Amino acid sequence: PSVHAEQGKVVASLPTGDSVEVLLFGATVLSWKSNGRENIWVSDAAKLDGSKPVRGGVPLVFPAFGPPPKDHATGKLPQHGFARNSHWEYLGSSSSESGKLSSGGDDSVKLDFGLGTAELSEEARTAWPFDFSLVYSVTLAKDGLSTMLNVQNKGEKSFEFQMLLHTYFKIDDISKVAINGLGSTTYIDKMLNATEHQQTDPSIRIHGEVDRVYKSIKQDTTSITQDGKPRLDIVREGLSDSVVWNPWIEKAKGMGDFEPKEGYKKMVCVEVGAVDGWQKLEGGESFEGGMRCTARY
Ligand code: BG6
Repeated sequence: PSVHAEQGKVVASLPTGDSVEVLLFGATVLSWKSNGRENIWVSDAAKLDGSKPVRGGVPLVFPAFGPPPKDHATGKLPQHGFARNSHWEYLGSSSSESGKLSSGGDDSVKLDFGLGTAELSEEARTAWPFDFSLVYSVTLAKDGLSTMLNVQNKGEKSFEFQMLLHTYFKIDDISKVAINGLGSTTYIDKMLNATEHQQTDPSIRIHGEVDRVYKSIKQDTTSITQDGKPRLDIVREGLSDSVVWNPWIEKAKGMGDFEPKEGYKKMVCVEVGAVDGWQKLEGGESFEGGMRCTARY
């Protein structure tokens, strides 16, 4: 595999042509191509200069999902926390052959990114005064991408967090897409005053703005199909919640960094995370969660 780190980005590719691109700002995955096809949607008006979180890609939500509750330790942080808004450090790459980590292998390449208390802005550190370290590992393999977040409490005080991989998947046409694998699951519908509902239909189709938090999902895999054919499989690793989001027409119009405005037809967010309640880490403890995506044709 080849790996280049330049101009605030790390780009890795395999001899097959598959590639992944990660922006150090937010450790945001901006592109994942397999078989010559892009799987990730990024807005044409996304800011990549660190002035605001990227609109598109895979922004990392940590340590709070949505607007943090005022009476919680994350209460002074911005929506979705600070991880997507911070400059991460590139920790290096390793290659593997047939699943074994070694140098010079061609099968996959893993990129590691780190964020700790020292890298935080003064503002974020004051708002959330805990000693932590995050290691985000992005592994590119043929037809597959895995993104895993490791959270460590390096201090003595315990802390609580939520995390989510806010992935904008690129699709051809939202009217032809179905999301499978969330049947028989309870969800919070943020469009309906955060009321609780039961997903009865095993297949979800999107015809308008959707903002739902599926919780304690029993199935590991959520699949995106297009025209009835498998397009992407998303496997939760160590996580049991998923958010399904599409801003649709009006919400897209209201976001200055969402372009083209018709772009809502070309994306769907299927986000894996731990967002129902809080994960608690005592001093010295760690947590790991993420996803394994497979592109299918
Ligand atoms: C989703 C939330 O995960 O992110 C939505 O469920 C929110 O409520 C969306 O609108 C986008 O958030 P932001 O901060 O990137 O505009």
